[in-house]
Amino acid sequence: MFTRTRPSWHLPESAATDESLFLRRRQLIKGIAAGPILLSGLGLPGSAAAEAEAGLLPSLYPAKRDPAYAVERPITPEALPTTYNNFYEFGSNKQIWQAAQDLPVQPWQVVIDGLVDKPMTLDAADLVEKMPLEERVYRHRCVEAWSMVVPWTGFPLKALVDMAAPQGSAKYLVMQTFEDSDVAPGQRQFWYPWPYIEGLTIQEATNPLAFLVTGLYGKPVPRQNGAPLRLAIPWKYGFKSVKSIVRFTFAEERPVSFWEQIQAAEYGFWANVNPEVPHPRWSQAMETPLGSDEKIPTKLFNGYAEQVAGLYAGLEGETLYR
Ligand code: MTE
Repeated sequence: MFTRTRPSWHLPESAATDESLFLRRRQLIKGIAAGPILLSGLGLPGSAAAEAEAGLLPSLYPAKRDPAYAVERPITPEALPTTYNNFYEFGSNKQIWQAAQDLPVQPWQVVIDGLVDKPMTLDAADLVEKMPLEERVYRHRCVEAWSMVVPWTGFPLKALVDMAAPQGSAKYLVMQTFEDSDVAPGQRQFWYPWPYIEGLTIQEATNPLAFLVTGLYGKPVPRQNGAPLRLAIPWKYGFKSVKSIVRFTFAEERPVSFWEQIQAAEYGFWANVNPEVPHPRWSQAMETPLGSDEKIPTKLFNGYAEQVAGLYAGLEGETLYR
């Protein structure tokens, strides 16, 4: 986000290879490297290894699409959002998708704590199996002025909030990404305030649009897009949609998020999309859909004003749009 990479839709050779072929090739290479250990069954057994490559609970996909969440623009071709990513844990450029394949996504422990009646630690697979999965097509607008339209699979964040039963004093939900510098080379860059955290008010977190993502394009969400559990908050700039979440903490105090700690003047807590409020370094009036050269007008709350504008009544004094 500090370094503005010029959008380039040129796909690397690996990205142009059929996805399943590429993954099988990686698995083969890993298998050769692991040698007899893997083959003797001391490593992952065959089916578990295949499942690990496929992501969490592949049998749950595709989930039924909810027609209430549709976008008038075409869905972005799958090869783009899965190969052009912001995931600083794996590097500060957009070409991190191969590096992210090293992230082990199961087992994946999720902690729910803070001001809740029922603090708990549970396996992401158990959590996801409990939840009503559906597919929703959402817009996504990055603060860097590129955008995409993607079919996420997941469940309302409200379902997790309800399960946790927050106490009356809880005003914010703080979400935290994994920390493991062995697999995430970006986390060896000590000048970033790891772990990546983000926060929402409880009212925002329980708005029906707030979505916890487990899948993308009818499959488990790929590692580079935030496996096994990430947020999609379509009315806010993309940096609010924290990836690969391991902890949900209910708090009374407003958290200072990852980007806010780095540069509060550029990346605030609210970060609601507004074409009329420029980012200090560039305009937010227009956006470029991934894969195109055109610039299209950005919409207030990224097109979701009807569903969310009411959340901000009375907060006009706050820096709502950065
Ligand atoms: N979450 C973590 N943990 N680390 C990140 O670097 N980048 C954010 C957000 N979530 C980021 C993150 C930004 S800036 C954007 S635009 C979106 O993820 C990008 O999601 P995508 O790669 O699936 O398009």
